[in-house]
Order: sequence, then structure tokens, then C-alpha cells
Amino acid sequence: MTRGSLLVDHIGELVTNDGRDGDPLGVRRDAALLVEDGEVVWTGPARHAPAADRRIDAGGAAVLPGFVDSHAHLVFAGDRAAEFAARMAGERYTGGGIRTTVGATRAASDDDLRATVGRLRAEMLRQGTTTVEIKSGYGLNVADEARSLRIAAEFTGDTTFLGAHVVPAEYADRPDDYVGLVCGPMLAAAAPYARWIDVFCERGAFDADHARAILACGQAAGLGVRLHANQLGPGPGVRLGVELGAASVDHCTHLTDADVDALAGSETVATLLPGAEFSTRSPYPDARRLLDAGVTVALATDCNPGSSYTSAMPFCVALAVREMRMTPAEAVWAGTAGGAAALRRTDVGRLTPGARADLIILDAPSHLHLAYRPGVPLIRQVLHNGVPR
Ligand code: NIG
Ligand code: FE
Repeated sequence: MTRGSLLVDHIGELVTNDGRDGDPLGVRRDAALLVEDGEVVWTGPARHAPAADRRIDAGGAAVLPGFVDSHAHLVFAGDRAAEFAARMAGERYTGGGIRTTVGATRAASDDDLRATVGRLRAEMLRQGTTTVEIKSGYGLNVADEARSLRIAAEFTGDTTFLGAHVVPAEYADRPDDYVGLVCGPMLAAAAPYARWIDVFCERGAFDADHARAILACGQAAGLGVRLHANQLGPGPGVRLGVELGAASVDHCTHLTDADVDALAGSETVATLLPGAEFSTRSPYPDARRLLDAGVTVALATDCNPGSSYTSAMPFCVALAVREMRMTPAEAVWAGTAGGAAALRRTDVGRLTPGARADLIILDAPSHLHLAYRPGVPLIRQVLHNGVPR
């Protein structure tokens, strides 16, 4: 954090996400924003801008809250490019490759894992992501889950224990014993480094009974609940998440009307991960149906070496607009304020007084350009905690 005040001036379009006047993005034109001690302390018309110690001239560009990527699996080793190529040649994604990454992750040194997380975190920051959630889930034994979370915690406060990603090979014929391990010694070793607990609730991973047992243990240990649900087919995950008061259920690709109704009557966010459908060549989730039902929708990358090896939130915004029938405003909100809601954070995802000074200056006059100009590096400058990066 840099001391003293910093004025971001000459903002053509300021996205505040203040939700006032029926405009969720809370857009202000010809605006300025004042930062002190890493926090937004004032926004208003540029002509009323107060004096400050330093000044950044946005030159009429758009300024947005930094992206909040609420779903990422960054602690891993190896890559699965060959698996991606096979899918593009017609193979189906089943999640089976997770065990390949588990083998590589267990064999990697702490420094190798730390370097990978650091590289991906830096990649994200360059693309405007100022808050990221990081999961374990490629260790799947007590020592490797604990070290994955210890390393993740060096990079974010939003760490998630995903010991229940899949049943590892050595427990293949004893899934109940693995659930016991996750709820017992693994949770005990992981909890000091974790804020959240997550389960991959899917055919071939964990069923509803196992998921409920694991999530209940996590809650009892003080962790918040989130869930991988309804990614590869319909299933009980979304309703289980709502039942347990999950902050978010993630993927939501295959939903019944009952799932949508359950979400609409809840505080649980539906986090959509279009990078996964892109990279597995699968049908996209129906964001329009969720939004029209009144569900809070977030967008995240799902960055991982198997189903979605992208760290780029602007890419996810563009996919959501083009392929999931979200408006550009809805997609930008979902990638900022929506991600904050999915992490139950009120200090990020908005640019109003009291928020962390995490913001993006675009090389464009409007947030529309994030979807209108897909694949173009439009992030001119990022401020994280008020510090230019
Ligand atoms: O969110 N679905 C489960 N986990 C990841 C994929 C992990 C992998 O394939 O390595 C996901 O898509
Ligand atoms: Fe995931």
C-alpha cells in the first residue's frame, strides 16, 4: 500500500457497481475517483475532483472494478495439452485426467508449485483480476492437500479445501474410507490454511450423501461451503448447495426447473465457468434462464490444467455474452460484483467509498469493448490496493 492520495482523473465511463437508479453497473460519465491508503474514498464528477498527491489521467477511458475470479485451481504441476488436443479431435471430457495431475502434483517440489501459482497469479493480474480464490484438490492425501493450501494462502485469503475432488486411485475400491480421511485428518491439516470447503459432486466423483457428509464436517470446522455441481450432467449438487447455505454452486451447466427455483429462492450464487465448456467443447450453461429467474450469477475462469486452462476473465466475459446470452453489462457485473458475492466479500467488486482500490483502466471507452473486441489485450493499467501494477 502506498501512503498519500491518488486521483484517477478524466474517466470517460466509471463502472461503480453501486446498483443505484436501476443500473446494476452504476455507470458514471466524466468521473474521477480518489484513493487513500489503498481504499476508494471518493467518486464523483471530474469537475469536482479534489486535489491529491498524485494523479493518473485515464484519458477518457473506461474504469472498472478489478475482476474477482472466484473459482480457480492454481496449485498443480504438469499440463494436459495432449488431453485437450484429443478432445478437440472428438474425445469426451470425463474428469478422468484429474488423476494425471494428482500424480504430477505429488511429485513436484514446494518451489515448483509456488512458481506455478505465482506465474498464473501474475498472468491474472495483467488481465485485470485483483481477487482470486485458489483451491487445493490435486494432492488428495493429508500432506499434499495441506501443502497445496499452505502455498495457496501465500497468494490469497480465499483458499478452498477440495480434498473431495475425486477419489484417488489408492482408495478406488474404498470410497467410504476416503471420505473418512477427508473429514478426519485431511480436514484437520487443511483447515488452518482454508476459508472454504468444496466438493466435486458429480457422477464419477462424490454422490450427494458423501458430499453432504464432507461439507458438514467442513462447516463444523468453521469453513464456508461452495460446491462443484451439475457440470457434466444433471444431479443433486445444486439443491444440496442451497440446502447447506453454500455461498456458491459452480458450473450449473445441467439444471432442472427445480434447481433454478431452489437457487432463485436462496442466497446462493450460481457461478458459471464458460472456459470449461469452451475447452471441453460442451454446451454452455443457460445464464439467461438463471438471470430471468432472479438468480445471482457470477463468472469465473475455473483455471486448471484439465478442463479450462485460461486465466483470462475478459475471455470469460466475451464467451458469456456471445454464447450464454448475457448482456455485456450483466457479464461485467458477474465477473466483478458477482464474484465478490460468490466469495461473500463486500470490500471488492465495486468502486464506491470504502471499497478496496482494485481497479482496471481499459484501453477502451466503455465496458462493452470487453465483449465487442474479444481476445484483444484491453487492460491498460491495473491498480491493486491502490498500487499501480
Ligand atoms: O472444475 N470439475 C472438476 N474439477 C475441475 C477440472 C479439473 C481437471 O480436469 O483437472 C473443473 O472443471
Ligand atoms: Fe473447478
